[in-house]
Amino acid sequence: MNVGGSLQVPGDKSISHRALILGALGDGESRVTGILQSADVHSTAGVLRALGVGIPPLTPDFVVHGRGADALRGPTAALDCGNSGTTTRLMAGVVAALPVRATFVGDGSLSRRPMRRIARPLEAMGARVELPAHHGLPMTIQGGSLHDVTWDSEVASAQVKSAVLLAALVSGVRATVTEPTRSRDHTERMLHARGAKITIDERSVAIEPGSSLTAMDTAVPGDPSSAAFFAALAALADGGSLRLERVCINPTRVGFIRAIERMGVRVDAENRRVEGGEPIADIVVRPGRLRGITVGGNDIPAMIDELPMLACVAARAEGETEITGASELRVKESDRIAAVVSNLRAVGADAEELPDGIRVRGSDRPLAGRITTHGDHRLAMAFGILGAATGNGIEIDDRDCVSVSYPTFWTDLESAVVSG
Ligand code: S3P
Repeated sequence: MNVGGSLQVPGDKSISHRALILGALGDGESRVTGILQSADVHSTAGVLRALGVGIPPLTPDFVVHGRGADALRGPTAALDCGNSGTTTRLMAGVVAALPVRATFVGDGSLSRRPMRRIARPLEAMGARVELPAHHGLPMTIQGGSLHDVTWDSEVASAQVKSAVLLAALVSGVRATVTEPTRSRDHTERMLHARGAKITIDERSVAIEPGSSLTAMDTAVPGDPSSAAFFAALAALADGGSLRLERVCINPTRVGFIRAIERMGVRVDAENRRVEGGEPIADIVVRPGRLRGITVGGNDIPAMIDELPMLACVAARAEGETEITGASELRVKESDRIAAVVSNLRAVGADAEELPDGIRVRGSDRPLAGRITTHGDHRLAMAFGILGAATGNGIEIDDRDCVSVSYPTFWTDLESAVVSG
């Protein structure tokens, strides 16, 4: 299999959610271009609409008419977050600071995901949060005026950090969030750009009271987590090169690129520039002779969503790859440690589960079989890419679940593979 040409991957999912939420909380018109039009982002738009915000249909170029948090009102029905953890946790922060009562619901996968991690800090700020016995959804929040908080998060989670920052912003109080390793920092970058008083040091972020938000346009850059699949395709190719245009290269997001470079893949970042407070580049990836690597600890948050893809690349590398310190993978859209390992084995690869990670011994034998995605978009795409490598034949039980983050994935895959 050879790769060729260039690809503009869809807009960044994290920035897309935040552009809608911060646009709604700001005062005035915020134009959003290049938003990711995927199921998860539609969930955030739907929740904001249910709270009374006039979010128009999501198109490549539209305007959010923000009227500030005071214009938000209580919903008349449960807030449906679909499959989206980001929608649930970020909007929980907003709702906790409003004088309303709201129930968050979602699909089977989202309903099983842990919500105590946001319930605890929001309760510490004065909100009331009701969770079912398994601590997932449905979750009911009775919001109100909140008080200052200093929160030491046990997990490096941008969703937890953002829930607290948004609650503090809307309530006009001070919050400091410390995390074990810095998670993606889009919320603080975007809040700062819109005039909120944010201070950042190595592992903590603080927001000062009385931070109001100005309206601001967002040109959403390409999603590095989506680009990672095509960087992997080029890494696994026999020849050619693939150019990925206008990808966000925020340091809190590029762990996968750093990892495949260590595996022997050549990656060049061209036309580096800063747009809307985020570093952007065109990334050119060429195949290399792949060797196994070890990743763990502080490396993990910057590649958390890309680890299924990394494990699949490792199946074609020489030697062993060990991923540790990644127990968060067990509470994503599926248990990604169990699901990646069982699917790698189902196609004939040598993989084993670790309590907090995955060990893979690579080989060049053909990998073939059917994989079970559990409706998890990143599993469908990781195995879709692995299946495109020469000699492999992988069938995916649910190809449509890519709509959560990358609806055009399969056509982009077709266009990136060239006959050679
Ligand atoms: C996201 C944060 C990450 C990531 C998710 C998107 C965000 O989750 O896995 O896909 O936009 O804040 P955690 O912060 O819970 O690790």
